[in-house]
Amino acid sequence: MKDLTAVITGVGKALPEKRLTNADLEKMVETSDEWISKRVGIKERRMAEDGEWTSHLAARAARDALAMSGIPAEQIDLILVSTTTPDTLYPSVSCLVQRAIGAVNAGAMDVAAACTGFIYAMGTAWSMIRSGLMKNVIVIAAEVVTSSLDWTDRDTCVLFGDGAGAVVLSASEQEGTGILAMRLRADGTYADILKLPNSGSRVFPEYAGRFVKMQGNDVFRHAVRDMVECATDVVAAAGLTLADVDLFIPHQANIRIIDAIATRLNVPPEKMFVNIENYGNTSSATLPIALCEAVEQGRLKPGDILVLDAFGAGLTWGAMAIRWK
Ligand code: UT7
Repeated sequence: MKDLTAVITGVGKALPEKRLTNADLEKMVETSDEWISKRVGIKERRMAEDGEWTSHLAARAARDALAMSGIPAEQIDLILVSTTTPDTLYPSVSCLVQRAIGAVNAGAMDVAAACTGFIYAMGTAWSMIRSGLMKNVIVIAAEVVTSSLDWTDRDTCVLFGDGAGAVVLSASEQEGTGILAMRLRADGTYADILKLPNSGSRVFPEYAGRFVKMQGNDVFRHAVRDMVECATDVVAAAGLTLADVDLFIPHQANIRIIDAIATRLNVPPEKMFVNIENYGNTSSATLPIALCEAVEQGRLKPGDILVLDAFGAGLTWGAMAIRWK
């Protein structure tokens, strides 16, 4: 049997209709459009309505990706959903998606690696396909982060938004295309600098409610250092140099983090994909939403080298190099 690789055959995204602008936030906490725009780079974010759950966004994005791939839902072998905000811990979001899209022959599993979850899920899918165990896997990242925000805490509530993105990954025998290399990293020593207390079996008496808690400055420093390191490693692991990269999609957490990475890696602005101004930080969904928009905008052509690079709570970080088919 020839070596198998995994190529992206479809992309999709789903964003709630409701928009929350910086002007809206000015009425809720002591902040300003100027501060948010300058310090973070966000103008507005989307917010799920009551009754619009993570699984709904995930299923919408998955349907889009399936339609583009042309692969019938019955031929999907596995559904992986990265999320930090599942509808419920069980049933998993992936099972709800499986039901919604009629992927009657698929297994289904949620992946928990915070904002890096899309890379972790893609890596899992890649190894399933490479090994010959599976042919078609849907990888989704879906988040309703606004369900975990303290709307009186200006340090966090201005940063995040809701959304979902999806890709269909399919087996191919075309050597040198699709996923070329991957890096997955973690450092639990820094577990405390970004967390969602009271979201599991542990009770945190010091925190009322289930709200994102972040030591922003520390997270910022780690994000820049770790994403630079990971992108450098993954490109080398693919046998390439940074100059070979045609499109770089970084996690969209802060425009200043993105700019710092671009400077350190010497990636020119036209090769750096940025859409944080429209959606804020949608946690693990930033990468597949951005990828879907890059495809819609015609920014990827066959043979292009794409690098995905993410960072998040855990700490976790990871990167992937892909040759576009
Ligand atoms: O996706 C997971 C990974 N997450 C991230 O990567 C986020 C990483 N961190 C960051 O993006 C930035 O650290 C933040 C955006 C969270 C904060 O930006 P910063 O430049 O690090 O600000 P800071 O925390 O040092 O605060 C600077 C000032 C403070 O006021 P003083 O003490 O200088 O008077 C804050 O109280 O800005 C103030 N501030 C605000 N002012 C207006 C903090 N939040 C706000 C706000 N509006 N929303």
